[in-house]
Amino acid sequence: MRTKYAAGNWKMNMTFEEGQILFSEVTNMVKDEVVNPNVKVVMGVPAPYLSSFSKLINTDKVSIAAQNCYPKASGAYTGEVSVPMLKSAGVEYVIIGHSERREYFNETDQFIAEKVDAILAEGLTPIFCCGETLGQREEGIHFDFVKGQLTNSLFHLDADAVQKVVIAYEPIWAIGTGVTASSEQAQEMHKVLRDHLASKYGQEVADNISILYGGSVKAGNAPELFSQPDIDGGLVGGASLDSRGFTDIAKSF
Ligand code: G3P
Repeated sequence: MRTKYAAGNWKMNMTFEEGQILFSEVTNMVKDEVVNPNVKVVMGVPAPYLSSFSKLINTDKVSIAAQNCYPKASGAYTGEVSVPMLKSAGVEYVIIGHSERREYFNETDQFIAEKVDAILAEGLTPIFCCGETLGQREEGIHFDFVKGQLTNSLFHLDADAVQKVVIAYEPIWAIGTGVTASSEQAQEMHKVLRDHLASKYGQEVADNISILYGGSVKAGNAPELFSQPDIDGGLVGGASLDSRGFTDIAKSF
């Protein structure tokens, strides 16, 4: 059975002290309240906090994620953070290819493919983000566009490697807008992506890959979204900044 995820992406929010409180609250709530053994809770926190917050984890139900990485192991890349550095700080997951990084920092599919390789090389798990704009959906090219993101950044991997990737489908028009994709819209794209993976790697491999939905996931809409056959959890932004709400999302499976 595929692992189910409640993954939080704090983005550029929380001071160290605020984050310390939030991280501890979520960890303790999840430890006490999340009973499904197949559910993993991941918190994507700002880079300066990773080492300190990873030491706050007191249950194997919770892991910490970075929100980005640089694909080189070391060198003259001022301001960047390598995967070996993240690993040494206790990081297990790395969110990459988020639409905000693609937009604001011009990250290409190829650059993200290099990040996937660097993360896998260190034994960490990539959370690979993909998704279309509203314009692409209105033009009816959203399926081909998002399939292309997988082809360009993941399809160089062999079957063993690709099964180690967690995919997060985040329609850009649903991110931070409060406009959530309907469960039908989300399931439709997730099925298209799983079929695309199956066309390359076969159905057994495709069925082993967790595909998360992101875009205005809340405690109120998570149960219906997560009940869909090809939705394996959520990548949660705003709602991950509230310990009660995020823990309730983690209990939605
Ligand atoms: O990476 C998750 C994020 O893009 C979704 O944000 O606030 O719509 O849950 P939000």
